[in-house]
Amino acid sequence: MEKVSRRNFMKKAVAVSAGAGIASTVFSQKSSAEEKEASQEKFIFPKSFIFGAGTAAYQIEGAWNVDGKGESIWDRWTHMQGNTKYNADVACDHYNRWKEDVAIMKQLNLDCYRFSISWPRVMPDGKGKINQKGLDFYKKLTDELLNNGIKPAITLFHWDTPQKLQDLGGWANRDIVDWFADYANIMFKALGDRVPIWTTHNEPWVFTIAGHTYGKQAPGLKDLPTALLTTHNALLAHGKAVQAYRASGSKGKMGITLSTSWNLPSDEKNENDIKAANLIRRSHIEWFSDPIYKGAYPEDVWKKYADAGIPMPEIKPGDMSLIQSPIDFLGLNFYGPNVVKHEDDNYWPYGVRFLNERSDLGSNMWKADELTRMLLFISDRYNKPEMMITENGYNGADTDFVDRNNKIQDVIRKEYTYQHIKAVYDAIQQGVNMSAYLHWSFIDNFEWGTWSRMGLVYRDYANNNRIIKESGYWYANIIKDKCLLF
Ligand code: FCB
Repeated sequence: MEKVSRRNFMKKAVAVSAGAGIASTVFSQKSSAEEKEASQEKFIFPKSFIFGAGTAAYQIEGAWNVDGKGESIWDRWTHMQGNTKYNADVACDHYNRWKEDVAIMKQLNLDCYRFSISWPRVMPDGKGKINQKGLDFYKKLTDELLNNGIKPAITLFHWDTPQKLQDLGGWANRDIVDWFADYANIMFKALGDRVPIWTTHNEPWVFTIAGHTYGKQAPGLKDLPTALLTTHNALLAHGKAVQAYRASGSKGKMGITLSTSWNLPSDEKNENDIKAANLIRRSHIEWFSDPIYKGAYPEDVWKKYADAGIPMPEIKPGDMSLIQSPIDFLGLNFYGPNVVKHEDDNYWPYGVRFLNERSDLGSNMWKADELTRMLLFISDRYNKPEMMITENGYNGADTDFVDRNNKIQDVIRKEYTYQHIKAVYDAIQQGVNMSAYLHWSFIDNFEWGTWSRMGLVYRDYANNNRIIKESGYWYANIIKDKCLLF
């Protein structure tokens, strides 16, 4: 991997043209556009580094009850009045437009497309009967990607639990460990020979803790003890699926994707704020990654819950070694840091408050350097595992606009993405083993009820037509040369 500064780039260019026997005057005849390009710093990634983009089944597919698909907890949640303004019954209509979408991915030069499988599309009841039409959809999509030279990266679970399983307790029922492993096995049998990258869960903190404590997303519970139980069951299910993957003889990479709550203390000199920020990070990231890499939950977080009188999940013999089944890579989703302030015990159970600002973060609350810091921290903690950024992107709902030439101008997304890819580059320079950057998202999608525009591709709400945004064209160039420049 090589960083080419403006000076070295000029030297190299001269050397190349001289080596080819071209008079050096040719170089001085460069167009102003080329000169401009040469004046920028370039950050070159290894050829093997993967650039891509991602989506989630519920957020783009639509066809919520078509061809035998079963109901998911997100179908149920969005159909219940008052929960969300919109539902994703049609979403981006990707279930019908998948071919057109792959053609757009090809135009974007994506090395890789990360998508999730809708469990109830493949198994309408979550267990038992397989829905062949659902399975065929993912087979067609996978083959189309491969035919276009795009690596499929499959997420087995991106939050859309089959409603029939939710009726039996969902993630709070320990039987889900076997249900999930059976479903995973069906997918490995169908696509294990062709798909090079797999993850079990997307962001377990979100569908367990957030989904069962705050009442703001499916399944909408408000019960922390149940939430903690679901974290343990989700980790067991992850471990069992990893073992099933190994047993299937598939040769790809298997991992998990975690959300990252990377916290900055509201006052960097205040010991209590620093402790509070660490506690929140540990309850969010290490709560999942420590069991996987170290075979134990973070003791201080466990104690905090137990001291607050919360009944903790039962850990049975063999549980932690199942969870610790070796994975090939860790997927991380990063959007920006949080700001945390220490408070008293009235702020149950963590004794902290999240703030919406810190003067040095500006109104956007991003600070891409923090991504580098986080990657270094996780890399050190777990002895340099392979890691991928499985999601990162700019929530530009109110800034994207269609200009007079029908181009989608989204310069802030470009700036955001540039800074975060650069942060990944910096981490690699410092020895972190990063193998991929997957942008969120491929296309403007449901965004769990908000329809926030986060895509490289603009979706016209009126007719579902797609238009590649300016950031998309820019990203396509980065991918082509594996070289970051603005
Ligand atoms: C993540 C989700 C993803 C998307 C982004 C913005 O938490 O995994 O589906 O909504 O946030």
